[in-house]
Amino acid sequence: MRINTFEEYEIAYKKSVEDPEGFWGEVAQKFEWKKPWTKVLDWNFEEPNVKWFVGGKMNITENLLDRHVRERPNQPAIVWEPNDKDDESVTLTYKVLHERVSRFANVLKSHGVEKGDRICIYMPMIPELAIAVLACARIGAIHSVVFGGFSAKSIADRVNDANCKMVITTDGAYRGKKKLPMKETVDDALIGCPMVEKVIVATRTRTPISMIKGRDYWWEEEVKKVSADCPATEMDSEDPLFILYTSGSTGKPKGVVHTCGGYMVYTTYTFTNVFQYNPGDVYFCTADIGWITGHSYIIYGPLAAGATSVLFEGVPTYPDAGRFWDIVERHKVNIFYTAPTAIRSLMGFGKEFWENKDLSSLKVLGSVGEPINEEAWHWYNENIGKGNCTICDSWWQTETGGIMISPLANITPTKPTFATLPLPGIQPELVDENGEVIEGNGVNGNLVIKFPWPSIIRTTWGDHDRCKQVYFSTYPNRYFTGDGCMRDEDGYYRITGRVDDVINVSGHRIGTAEVEDALNSHTGVIESAVVGYPHEIKGQGIFAYIIMESLLHDEDLTKRDILATVTRIIGPIAKPDEILFVSGLPKTRSGKIMRRILRKVAEGDTSNLGDISTLLDPSVVDEIVEKVSLK
Ligand code: WTA
Repeated sequence: MRINTFEEYEIAYKKSVEDPEGFWGEVAQKFEWKKPWTKVLDWNFEEPNVKWFVGGKMNITENLLDRHVRERPNQPAIVWEPNDKDDESVTLTYKVLHERVSRFANVLKSHGVEKGDRICIYMPMIPELAIAVLACARIGAIHSVVFGGFSAKSIADRVNDANCKMVITTDGAYRGKKKLPMKETVDDALIGCPMVEKVIVATRTRTPISMIKGRDYWWEEEVKKVSADCPATEMDSEDPLFILYTSGSTGKPKGVVHTCGGYMVYTTYTFTNVFQYNPGDVYFCTADIGWITGHSYIIYGPLAAGATSVLFEGVPTYPDAGRFWDIVERHKVNIFYTAPTAIRSLMGFGKEFWENKDLSSLKVLGSVGEPINEEAWHWYNENIGKGNCTICDSWWQTETGGIMISPLANITPTKPTFATLPLPGIQPELVDENGEVIEGNGVNGNLVIKFPWPSIIRTTWGDHDRCKQVYFSTYPNRYFTGDGCMRDEDGYYRITGRVDDVINVSGHRIGTAEVEDALNSHTGVIESAVVGYPHEIKGQGIFAYIIMESLLHDEDLTKRDILATVTRIIGPIAKPDEILFVSGLPKTRSGKIMRRILRKVAEGDTSNLGDISTLLDPSVVDEIVEKVSLK
C-alpha cells in the first residue's frame, strides 16, 4: 500500500488504471473486515450507481481504534491543543479514545439512537467532537457535522433536510478572544425542528444555558451511566457513514453522502502516501472538523493509519500570529497541513512570529482548499519549510472524499502552484464546453474524472437526481468537478478555480445564490447579485450589488444591517466584503443577470467589459462603473 519511490508511483498508477479492481482489492486487504467483499467494484455514471467492496462487512471504528488498541494502546491518537496557549494540552491515547468513543456510543444507544439514524453535531474543536463523530460511526448512526460558525437557520435547514433525531453540541465555544454561544444557537435552530428528540450538551465554557427537561442532557452525566464496552455494529461497505453539506451553484447546500468501506480505504491510502506518513510521526491539520478536510484528514485517514493527530481549538492569530508555529514547536509536528488563506494571512505578520521558533521537526507541508499563489508557495517553502519540506498542494473536494491530485511528499518533483499529478486510481481529463476531451499537454479545460475511485460521492441526501444533475450530467459518463484546470507541457495539473457560481472564500465554498437569498431576505432589499473577486488574503472575496427599495439615509448603517442579516441567515463567513448599492442590474432581454460584467467590475477591470449590446438597458452598466470609481 505504501509507495516509496517515483518509480513505484508510476507502477502503482499504471496498475490502478489497467486493473482498478485488482489494485484496490489489494489495498483493501490491509484493513479489518468482518466479512470479505464479493466484488471490488460495481458502477455506472449514468444513474449514477457506484459500489465499492460489494457485500463487504466492517466497521470503520474497528479499523481506527480496536486495531491500534491491540498494537499501540499507549500511543497518542489525538493531541488536543486548547484555544488558550497557557492551558495544558490533552493527550488521548488510542486506548483512551477507544474507551471514550465506546462509552459515548452507549450514551447514544441509551437515548434510542439506532443504525441509520441521522445525528447532527454542532461543536467547537474539542476532543468531544471527534468522540461524537466516532461514536456515531461505532453504532452505524450517520453523522452530519455542521461547522460551528454556521447560524441557527443553517443548522435548522440541515437538521430538517436529513431528519436528524438528535443534536450534539456544547454550552459555548472559545475562538481566539471570543466566547461564542453554541447551545443557545441550537435552541434557536430547534424551534423549527420538531423531529429532534434529544440534545446532548458537552461542557466547555460554563456559559449559563437553559436545559429543557426530557430533551436536553449533559454529556458528562450521561457517560457516567453507561458501560465502556460497546461492540461495533456491523456495517455494509455501502452503508452511509456521514452526510456533509456543501454549497453548489444553485439552491440550498446539498448533503454529500459518503459510505463506509470505500471512504475508509481511500482516506487511509491517501493519508499514508501523500504525506508519506511514518509510524510515530506527529501530524497537524489546521482545518475544522466541520469541513471535509477535518473529516478525512483529522479524524478518519490519520487515525486509520495509526497516526497522532493534533486537534487545535483556536485560531492562527491568537494570542499572536505565531500560534501555528508554537504548536509545531511544542508538539514536534512532522507533517503540517493548512490552507493558502492562512499562509497568506500569516505572511503579512513580522518575522518575529516564526523566525525564532524551532520548526526543524517539519518534513511535509500540505496545502488545500484553494489555489495557492506563487508568492505564498515560496514563503511557505522558504520560511516554514526552510527549503527542506515538500509542499503538497493537494486538490480535492467534499464530493471526492479524499485527495485526488497531489505530489507524494519527497517523491513527486514539485512546481509552485501545481497540484502536480493524479494519485493512483484517479483518471482526470480536461474537456471543452462541448464536452470534447482535450488531449495532449499544454492545454486548459474543465476538469472531469472518468473512472470511479473508492471515496467518490454516492448520492446527495434525499435527492439522488440532484447528484446526477450536478455531477454526472454536464459531461455524460464523467464526474464533473466544477473546476477549471490547466495541464502543462509536463503533464502537471494546476487547478485554476471554480467555473461555476461557487465562490471560494478563505477555502470555504459559498454559493452566490445562497448569499443572494440571504441578502434578499432583508426587508429593504429588492434584488441582489453576488460575484467573487480576487482578494489578497481570502483568495476570493464576496462582492454584492444590491438594489434597495428606497433611497438610503445612512449607507453605512444599512450596510451593517445587511451584513447582520447575512450572519443571521448563513453565518459570518458568508458576509460580503464589498457592497455596492445600485438602481439596476445588467440583464439580458430574457432577464438573466450578466454576471460576467459584474465580475469584471468587481475585479476593478472596467475598461473592457465586452459586448453589452444584448443588455435590456445598457445604461445600468454606466451607473455601476461610475459608482465603483467613486468608492
Ligand atoms: C478548491 C476542500 C486549487 C477547488 C478539500 C475545489 C483547490 C474546492 C485545491 C473544494 C487546490 C481545493 N488547488 N483549488 N489544492 N483544493 N480547491 O469541497 O475549487 O471545501 O472544487 O473541499 O476547493 O472545496 P471543498
